[in-house]
Amino acid sequence: MWSDIEKRGRDALTRDMTEMFESGDRVGSFNVTFGDLLFDYSKTQMSEDDREALLTLARQAKLAEKRDAMFNGLRINETEGRAVLHTALRNLSGRSIHVDGADVMPVVLDTLTRMEHFAEAIRDGSFTGQGGAITDVVNIGIGGSDLGPVMAYAALAPYADGPRVHYISNVDGAHIHDTLKGLDPTTTLVIVASKTFTTIETMTNAETAKRWMAEQVTDPAAQFAALSTAADRTADFGIDPSRVFGFEDWVGGRYSVWGPIGLSLMIAIGPNDFRDFLSGGHEMDMHFCGAPLARNMPVMLALTGIWHNQGQGHGTRAVLPYDQRLLRLPAYLQQLEMESNGKRVSMDGADLKVDSGPVVWGEPGTNGQHAFYQLIHQGTRVVPCEFMVAARGHEPDLAHHHQLLVANCLAQSEALMRGRSLDEARALMAAKGLTGDELDRQARHRVFPGNRPSTTLIYPQLTPHVLGQIVALYEHRVFVEGVILGINSFDQWGVELGKELANSLAPVLAGDEPGADKDPSTRALVAYVQAHRES
Ligand code: F6P
Repeated sequence: MWSDIEKRGRDALTRDMTEMFESGDRVGSFNVTFGDLLFDYSKTQMSEDDREALLTLARQAKLAEKRDAMFNGLRINETEGRAVLHTALRNLSGRSIHVDGADVMPVVLDTLTRMEHFAEAIRDGSFTGQGGAITDVVNIGIGGSDLGPVMAYAALAPYADGPRVHYISNVDGAHIHDTLKGLDPTTTLVIVASKTFTTIETMTNAETAKRWMAEQVTDPAAQFAALSTAADRTADFGIDPSRVFGFEDWVGGRYSVWGPIGLSLMIAIGPNDFRDFLSGGHEMDMHFCGAPLARNMPVMLALTGIWHNQGQGHGTRAVLPYDQRLLRLPAYLQQLEMESNGKRVSMDGADLKVDSGPVVWGEPGTNGQHAFYQLIHQGTRVVPCEFMVAARGHEPDLAHHHQLLVANCLAQSEALMRGRSLDEARALMAAKGLTGDELDRQARHRVFPGNRPSTTLIYPQLTPHVLGQIVALYEHRVFVEGVILGINSFDQWGVELGKELANSLAPVLAGDEPGADKDPSTRALVAYVQAHRES
């Protein structure tokens, strides 16, 4: 079946996209709506036959059965022996969800209520720091314990009416130094967000923050909260259990923003808006579970991804939100997609027969237009682009800005598809008065090959509810691609080796161990650092 998709994808590379609009209602057929969201994938080289073949691939992979297995709490993360139930964190329907016969919802909802009480207490000033009401919240975490809340806090800035929130992730001392510099420890709450409570970056930053706090408050741990599955370790750190918010091992780090890891977001925007975020995600879950595959937004987003990557051989995809507040969405999606589907073996350990998930990257528009779009339009590689844009912004006084923003977004997908032919470029140069060889030479630089694929996701406005829908949409897209590839999207063994080697290099750098087992290049780099570091 893969060979069929590859053949179809490669054959379609020369298919003229603009001509594809001439027969039938391509616009009506190659889009999916759900609620107020519209996903348009008509500007691709996928034909109706190709789509049927992709849907067959999904059916053969037993997508519906595997989806149901996930939602029903089966241990589909086979290499870690875990269920995958981040969807339970946003299940506000009252429906029970069982893992090994036990309903997980009472604990999920109890934790949500505890988070809400804590968030309200901070927001209304009944929980204070040792110098007064909390003015600043610092979330210390990395990877999934950072990127979700960081992304969502920026996205929902118009709804943030609580204390300011800051995020520290990097073990680079510059990050914590620059973040804490302007803060008052007596009115700051530090949240240590770590599922395992062992991650070296997070624990190093947490200890540093505690020392910073201790310089001015008598009981630093009283201004700490923890988001973790490891209650014993949070207790060792000195954090009172009343400020520890736990979650189960069936919540993967990169899928965890919906639960306790979202506490900083909840404090910022308030419990009601946080519930709107959850309900948006839950609505997308219901759509994913109920809509026929061809009208199912996560499924069609995933099949478009499979078409471009494994079918047509485009190994990267650009995520291009025309929404400044989604500036961290590409980074968030990098972890979500690349940590989930960047695998080289299938569930049974056999080598994958096709490429794994693509390289995901991007920047908000219009900024990217003045940076890397040159390559997207005229480079030799084709980069499928995933545009997203809101119909309206949050600044009615600045509606003319928003109109320009939308015009730019739509113009880019149009330009990618249409391109500019040599004849058109020659006419432009002739109009400028050029003739002969010079006209030819200049015209060739102004040719756009066009026929370059993109998709567009449009939503009315970036509200908490819509953000929830978008994040859940991408989570399920990753799941669908993973199922079709036959891989486990929920482990991340690929991050382990680097961590182990970093641990073994630390004493070598310190000069406590010789590092004889290190390769010559690494030894030379160590020697350089030892010769140049602070004494
Ligand atoms: O980088 C690997 C990883 O395990 C991610 O999957 C996770 O989101 C991150 O580290 C942080 O882990 P923790 O929440 O346990 O500190």
